[in-house]
Amino acid sequence: MARLTPVSLTILLLCCVCAAAASTFDDSNPIRLVSDGLRDFEASLLQVVGHTRHSLSFARFAHRYEKKYETVEETKLRFAIFSENLDLIRSTNKKGLSYTLAINHFADWTWEEFQRHRLGAAQNCSATTKGNHKLTDHVLPQTKDWRETGIVSPVKDQGHCGSCWTFSTTGALEAAYHQAFGKGISLSEQQLVDCAQAFNNFGCNGGLPSQAFEYIKSNGGLDTEEAYPYTGKDEACKFSYENVGVQVLNSVNITLGAEDELKHAVALVRPVSVAFEVVKSFRFYKGGVFTSTTCGSTPVDVNHAVLAVGYGVEDDVPYWLIKNSWGDSWGDSGYFKMEFGKNMCGVATCASYPVVA
Ligand SMILES: *[C@@H]1O[C@H](CO)[C@@H](O)[C@H](O)[C@H]1NC(C)=O
Ligand SMILES: *[C@@H]1O[C@H](CO)[C@@H](O)[C@H](O)[C@H]1NC(C)=O
Repeated sequence: MARLTPVSLTILLLCCVCAAAASTFDDSNPIRLVSDGLRDFEASLLQVVGHTRHSLSFARFAHRYEKKYETVEETKLRFAIFSENLDLIRSTNKKGLSYTLAINHFADWTWEEFQRHRLGAAQNCSATTKGNHKLTDHVLPQTKDWRETGIVSPVKDQGHCGSCWTFSTTGALEAAYHQAFGKGISLSEQQLVDCAQAFNNFGCNGGLPSQAFEYIKSNGGLDTEEAYPYTGKDEACKFSYENVGVQVLNSVNITLGAEDELKHAVALVRPVSVAFEVVKSFRFYKGGVFTSTTCGSTPVDVNHAVLAVGYGVEDDVPYWLIKNSWGDSWGDSGYFKMEFGKNMCGVATCASYPVVA
């Protein structure tokens, strides 16, 4: 049994207020609700969702992620979706794969809701068919993790907006800036959401880091996060030259599908923006090296942009180390590993990095 704190009681009560009419709750006596809350809550939650093997897991989940359901119907619906997702997680984990899944704050969303809230529209990466990254014959290190150098900025959270491409872009620029100038910076995703449409980007409906770099290059800079903060909604462009934090001199594209080029760039240059295809189970990734038989390789409909910050080998499986933008409680402290060497989920389909000033 999860130990429930006062915070959880409030939430659990919130999700049960709906059930009050049909339960033993007394609206006129909120104090009693709090003191007897736990048992009452469980009883009334079970009354709403029924006594099934997933109902206590659901109660703990709702508590932990501060879920607020407005009505009995909503609670039942979310419980049904949660149960289905829990089955997916448990059956996947039973297979003994190179990665594990776990319940996270997405567990009461359907796949369709997840796609709508978190993924951009599939992007056309054909502009990078031929890249301009120059290979050299340097010997590459066995493993690489740019976090160790301190240039990788903290994990951010894109919220309910298909703006992954803006976070991939700022992540790459923040690292490039730190590498070039020896200090950290946080840059504006919102400016890219609001202002980069002329470069084939679509705000909360998706875009590409390579196209964002082109926009910033032609625009004359990207504002700081502080000057142009994130709202996660499509708004009017409010770019201001006085608040520019970084300028893009150039951007370098990796040849479509060329993981050797991508490895060379990540090993010797800096973190690289990449895109890939998120499939259903990926949203519950917890740790290990993700691999899939359902996502394609070349050229796939990539629907999510992120930042490759390293590579390595875990239990004989080579991987890319990648920074995501779903908050630092998602996955492995906000990061994940993706199998290396098979263009897994199209991870090398749409990669590029900026040169800053
Ligand atoms: C992708 O863009 C290229 C040109 O930029 C175009 O020739 C091609 O038809 C597009 N493909 C799709 C699937 O939209
Ligand atoms: C890199 O790709 C972007 C589009 O994704 C394109 O606009 C740009 O011209 C490419 N850069 C080079 C140097 O080919």
